[in-house]
Amino acid sequence: MANDRLTVAVLGPGGVGGLLAALLARAGHRVICLAGDETARALAADGIRVRSEHFGDFTARVEADTELREPVDACLIAVKATVLDAALERVPAKALGDAGLVVPFLNGVEHPATLRERYRPEQVAPAVIRVESARVAPGLIEHGSPFAEVDLTGDTVPRERLDALAGALEWAGVRVQVKDDEAATLWAKMSFLAPFALLTTRYGVPLGDVCTLHREELVALVEETAAVSRASGAPVDPAAALARYDAFPPGAKSSMQRDAETGRTLELDAIGGALLRAAERFGVPVPVASGLVRELAGTADN
Ligand SMILES: NC(=O)c1ccc[n+]([C@@H]2O[C@H](COP(=O)([O-])OP(=O)(O)OC[C@H]3O[C@@H](n4cnc5c(N)ncnc54)[C@H](OP(=O)(O)O)[C@@H]3O)[C@@H](O)[C@H]2O)c1
Repeated sequence: MANDRLTVAVLGPGGVGGLLAALLARAGHRVICLAGDETARALAADGIRVRSEHFGDFTARVEADTELREPVDACLIAVKATVLDAALERVPAKALGDAGLVVPFLNGVEHPATLRERYRPEQVAPAVIRVESARVAPGLIEHGSPFAEVDLTGDTVPRERLDALAGALEWAGVRVQVKDDEAATLWAKMSFLAPFALLTTRYGVPLGDVCTLHREELVALVEETAAVSRASGAPVDPAAALARYDAFPPGAKSSMQRDAETGRTLELDAIGGALLRAAERFGVPVPVASGLVRELAGTADN
């Protein structure tokens, strides 16, 4: 893949955004991080420090601002779903121009439609990322997984635009696949994530305990999620999903569970809520998922 020098904005330089921003900047691309005042000041002064066994420990210089003020080749969106609307105010469609890609890395399946209401549909190229990375402080990122993998997609986006961004990310050290089927790509992640996130958060235990102590509920939820995914045009195999959970390190925690432990707002609506809405749209019964979302929403409200 080619590696032309790109100008890339990153909205939300946290666990995911901060890591990608630093890797792209280290690879020679121009990177403009978009954040609130305090974080933008810290990044402009000190750059982004990454601690990672996989990528090495390094500091990358980046530009930082509170708002996008010029056209870019791509704007990576890496805020949590809970603040997406507010954060997008920092990326005016007018400043972005007609050519820049908008590339959300959020978990969930509904945000691409939100973005296509604000930006031109052929600019919105959703990505899913498999990584474990945390923002420890503004501009300080701890990357824990021995990999960072991205699936880049976008049914409405010209293929050469996807390839150009994929090339830049690959050269920066991220494993990237460009995928043809957007719904299948987003639902593949959702089908794995939703049961993992909902059950680890509901019971406050790591994945290994969910697989043993709450097996029956896990199996039922995986089957419900697979049925919704299938109805959404993305067939997944529930047996394969279960085998993946069983093969995972038993101590694995979901990011929703970590958010619950640290009192942060959960991405419950973007994951559980979106699952229920899709189930309703296609008439798929999801009693286990409904119960879990209700219980978690009740906990979050308290
Ligand atoms: N972390 C992972 O390993 C991982 C893996 C796969 C998928 N994901 C998904 O990726 C998305 C991002 O998660 P994350 O873990 O990277 O979140 P995060 O570490 O909390 O980072 C979010 C960033 O957004 C910034 N932000 C919040 N409100 C903003 C606003 N109004 N304007 C601009 N920036 C704003 C925060 O700024 P401050 O720094 O100033 O607080 C923070 O830097 C989520 O949908 C998550 O589910 C995460």
